[in-house]
Amino acid sequence: TKGGSLPESANITWTKTRVTDAMRCERLGQRGAVIWMTGLSGSGKSTMAVGLDAHLYEAGKPSFILDGDNLRHGLCCDLGFSSEDRHENIRRTGEVAKLMAQSGIIVICSLISPFDEDRRKVRESCLRDAVPFAEVFIAASLNVCEQRDPKGLYAKARSGALKGFTGIDSPYEPPQAAEVILQTGVNSPEACIQQLVAHVLALTSLK
Ligand code: PPS
Repeated sequence: TKGGSLPESANITWTKTRVTDAMRCERLGQRGAVIWMTGLSGSGKSTMAVGLDAHLYEAGKPSFILDGDNLRHGLCCDLGFSSEDRHENIRRTGEVAKLMAQSGIIVICSLISPFDEDRRKVRESCLRDAVPFAEVFIAASLNVCEQRDPKGLYAKARSGALKGFTGIDSPYEPPQAAEVILQTGVNSPEACIQQLVAHVLALTSLK
């Protein structure tokens, strides 16, 4: 299936490398993976991503964070917050994440990714190419996120100064079958990060 489903008329072929994904994993002592965090703004995605990344670094495991806010400064700087642009944001980030995971890295994606279908497509794309994937639902309620309002965006959205804000006047579809659910509004950040670390270490272990 490598190379996707382009028609033959596209005149594009898949270039094979001599170093296989398995050889890269063996070299790094881990399986690369895509860890996909989804949740409302202010739910704690970035805190969880940063905590997981630091733990993996301490354990000598190569990892990297792809953060929605950060990617919008470069790779996705042409995208806004319409549904179409959010679909493209997730598609593009998912493709980059899969490539990085195939290089052996544990890629921690931290994006609101409000649409179930977009997340499902990333999952299917990863699994099609044997890249381990985990969907992590950062399950703080809208109430909790709005009370935290770390960037003042909920206040702006409520006042009408910011249109199309997720959870207020733009939809968020919670995952139906996430591998990990982190109750960041109930449990401590440390406890949530421990829960996440345990799952990721098991998922990326070579044994
Ligand atoms: S998405 O929906 O997955 O494409 O969004 P993402 O790339 O993760 O970007 C979310 C961050 O952008 C800021 N922001 C908004 N979020 C939601 N809706 C609207 N309209 C919006 N406008 C700006 C906001 O800081 C989000 O950051 P987080 O870290 O999630 O709070």
